[in-house]
Amino acid sequence: MHISRTISDIREQVQAFRAKGETVGLVTTMGALHEGHLSLVSEARTAHDRVVATIFVNPTQFGNASDLENYPRTEVEDIAKLEAAGGDVVFIPEVAEIYPAGDETFVETTRLANMLHGLVRPGHFRGVATVVTKLFNIVQADAAYFGEKDYQQLQVIRRMVRDLHIPISIRGVATVREPDGLAMSSRNVRLSGEDRIAARVLSQALDHAETVVASSTDVTTLSNQIASIIASEPRARLKGLDITEATSLGPISGPIDRPIAIMLSVAFGDGASEVLLIDQREITP
Ligand code: PAF
Repeated sequence: MHISRTISDIREQVQAFRAKGETVGLVTTMGALHEGHLSLVSEARTAHDRVVATIFVNPTQFGNASDLENYPRTEVEDIAKLEAAGGDVVFIPEVAEIYPAGDETFVETTRLANMLHGLVRPGHFRGVATVVTKLFNIVQADAAYFGEKDYQQLQVIRRMVRDLHIPISIRGVATVREPDGLAMSSRNVRLSGEDRIAARVLSQALDHAETVVASSTDVTTLSNQIASIIASEPRARLKGLDITEATSLGPISGPIDRPIAIMLSVAFGDGASEVLLIDQREITP
């Protein structure tokens, strides 16, 4: 697998693929790769001649310096995993390559970025939209693959691509889970033993939601039931629970009669060792 560290080098690689008429799938990551990321690589592998992955811990999407500093960095292992999963090229730029000195341009989906998780992490989705636009412009792939676990992120990226007419197809890929249902995440390694066991409460709450929506319910009842399942786990602190219309993330109330998205964020541990986990489910009644 080829390792590119500069924009000119990655562009040369992709141009060489294009010259042979090959299609290119892109998987953007911040490293610390787990099965969830590798499932994106596998999906891209089945649909394209070439797979390009990126590893870049994007500073503009972190709210505080310690979260950025503590973000796991496992480049050697990540490269080996990408190679084993069938990646052809990995782009690993320095911050100055992506954000040249004096840069002042950002991309923001003004509504979608400033609601739900965007309210608790101000600037986060602006940082995501900005870096993803840059990576799309740099690599110029045919399609890019994103996990459905980061549901709001996926909607932000879809909207941004549509609004800015970026010539790339966005593919959402189902969340990969541990055997007990916990969604795979780079943050899981930071959970203490007992918190790791307790963390299965997120998927248990979403499984319950799926069952009750299938037999008809309303938004308030569903919300109360999810909150009480999370509260039944003493190590978990519910930080966010949003039930919205699927895709638009618009408000919904009363009986659930159309597809919904449930987005959960739950914290474990305290102080500097607090770990915030997210999970989501799109459910059609
Ligand atoms: O989901 C992620 O890992 C990041 O938000 C992304 C899309 C790679 C942008 O930095």
